[in-house]
Formats: sequence, structure tokens, C-alpha cells
Amino acid sequence: MGDSQEFDRVYERFQLIVNGPALFNAVVTALELDVLPFVSRHPGATFEELRDHVGIEPHKLRVLMLALCATELVERRDGGYVNSRVAEEHLVTDSPEGWRDTLLGWRKFQYPAFPHLTDALRTGKNEAALASYPGPGNTLYDRLANDPELVASYHDSIGPFTHLFAHALLDNAEIAEVGRLLDVGGGDGTTAIKFVRRHTHATVTIFDMPSVCRHAESGLPDDVKGRVLTYPGDIFEDDFPGGFDGILFSHSMEVFSPEHNGRLLAKAYEALPPGGKIFLYNMCAPDDENSGLLSARLSLFLNVLASGEGMAYPPKDYERWLTEAGCDSVRSYTGLPYEHALVVGVKG
Ligand SMILES: C[S@@+](CC[C@H](N)C(=O)[O-])C[C@H]1O[C@@H](n2cnc3c(N)ncnc32)[C@H](O)[C@@H]1O
Repeated sequence: MGDSQEFDRVYERFQLIVNGPALFNAVVTALELDVLPFVSRHPGATFEELRDHVGIEPHKLRVLMLALCATELVERRDGGYVNSRVAEEHLVTDSPEGWRDTLLGWRKFQYPAFPHLTDALRTGKNEAALASYPGPGNTLYDRLANDPELVASYHDSIGPFTHLFAHALLDNAEIAEVGRLLDVGGGDGTTAIKFVRRHTHATVTIFDMPSVCRHAESGLPDDVKGRVLTYPGDIFEDDFPGGFDGILFSHSMEVFSPEHNGRLLAKAYEALPPGGKIFLYNMCAPDDENSGLLSARLSLFLNVLASGEGMAYPPKDYERWLTEAGCDSVRSYTGLPYEHALVVGVKG
């Protein structure tokens, strides 16, 4: 690519990024005001039809529709509006993998924290953003635990992403062989439920905070009861339970510092029998740390609010930590969708 084409490409990306916060909010508002779903139900809907449905001032709707058309999620065609395929497949779908709840969650939990980024990076602490969630503890997870409604709302917002990301994990032949899996930081059980439905010989035990385990239990469908279990506790303070042939950390290791992860891996290694496997499934920056929009956003969010540490570590970091924990045959499955990698180690 010539210099000027490359300049134009980066400049166009720059425009998207700097206008992104406003356009992001326009998209979320369009979901809240039922604009995108309405256009989906009525392709070619006119401005007047939309106005009658949405019930906001025509000028405000005009501004919103301009923003949506600028994103190209909606197109103005032959006097009406139609959704793009991306809007149809990712925003107005009823599928559990739709991005709707994820984006509502980013607006509620993630983006209000970002004005504190400079402070968080300067001080090395997430205190400024965390102040919005009063209570004991130094992480967002500790603070959410004080309020069952917030626990539910937070996990509802990460559930769709977990659905989306779970495919590559469930497709992996090594984890498919595990009969008794401990899911550390297993959250609301989205992964566990999908796992036992796909691998009908298996049971999965979610090891998470008591408040999160209660939330997971309350949402367990009948067909998995008895095969998805919970083990409420603190993954740092409590010993890991025994009796498992595999231990999974799915997006629970990206959250913490290398020192914390070393402690968790030592405890996981200790709890496994010889031949047992540790599975680390995370959003991962590439080893050269030179790209990755999802990895970059997640890493910033973790540091500004969620834990004040961690990042979308590259696979080579996980490989090193597994080796340091004593594992043999450490290997990575890289290039998985949505910037994911699965790193596996075996207890010798
Ligand atoms: C990013 S979520 C990952 C959820 C799920 N495994 C997934 O793949 O989407 C991190 C999880 O770790 C849990 N967690 C964080 N700190 C914990 C602690 N000290 N003890 C137990 N669980 C903890 C949180 O409650 C949360 O469910």
C-alpha cells in the first residue's frame, strides 16, 4: 500500500475513533428507543412512521437518524430506512449472542469509568472509577457483590459476549475430554451450561463469589441441574477443591496481575491429579502487542475500573506462567475468533 493510501486508511480510522463515543451512544440510544428493531420489523419505514412509533421530537429523531446513517448501520434508501446486515445480525437479533446487552452494559459499567483513565494510569490504582461503587474490596467484582441486582445486571451484560466467545472453547478437542471441570471465576454459568449441553458426559463446577454463585444457581435451566454445580468462595483466599480432571480459567486470568495469576496457577496445579489439565481461555493481544481493538479496550477497562490490574496478556505470558507453575506440554491454540487464545498445560 502506498504512503498516501496508508495515511488515508489511518486517518479514516482516526475519524472513527474520535467520533466513536458519540456514535456509540447513538447506537445504544437507537436500541433503547426501539429504532433499530422497528426498522427491522418494517424495512423501508419512512421518517414519519418512525416518528409516530418512537414519539420523540422530529428534530431529535432527525439528529439520531443522521448519526445512525453516518455509522452505516442504517441506510436511507428510496425515502425510507433499512438496517444494514450488521445491524440485523448483531443488534436486533433475538440470539443470545446479539451485541445489544453487551453495548447496554458497556454504557452502564464500562464507559462511565474512562474519564478516570489518566488518573488510573498515573496513580496505578482504579480508586477514582471504583468510587462509583461504594463498599469493601478493591475490585468491581467485590463491590458488585453488595448488590444482587447489580450482580445480575453486570452478568447479563457480559453473558452475550461469553456466548459468542464460547464456541472456540467448546470446539476444542482437549477440553472435550474432561469429565469433571472446575470453572474458576465461572460467573453466571453461561460457559458451564453450554459445556454440559455439548459434552453430555461432563459436569462443571463454578468456583466464584457467593453472590455470583447464587445468581448462577437462580438461572440454571432444568436440563443441566445436577451437572452444573457451584462452589462459592474466594479464589484467592480459599483452597481450590479437589476431584477434578480439568481446571478452566475463562476470562478470569486476564483480570489479574502476573503475581496474582501465579498464585492462582499454583493453587490449581496443587488441586489437580497427575495428568490433570489447566485451560486458560482469554482474550489475548498478539505476542508483538501491536494490534487488537478488543484486547486494547478490555485492558484499559480492567485497569481503569474492574481490578486495577491485568490485561489481555499475549499467549506467551500464559505459556510462561504455566511452565513456571510446573506444567508440562504447554501449548497454545491461537488465532481464535474475537482475539482469543486457549493455552493448555498438563500436570506431570
Ligand atoms: C470477567 S468475569 C469472567 C466470567 C466468565 N468466566 C466468562 O468467561 O465470561 C471474572 C469472574 O471472576 C470472578 N471473581 C473475581 N474475583 C473473584 C474472587 N476473589 N473470588 C471468586 N471469584 C472472583 C467474578 O465474580 C467474575 O464472575
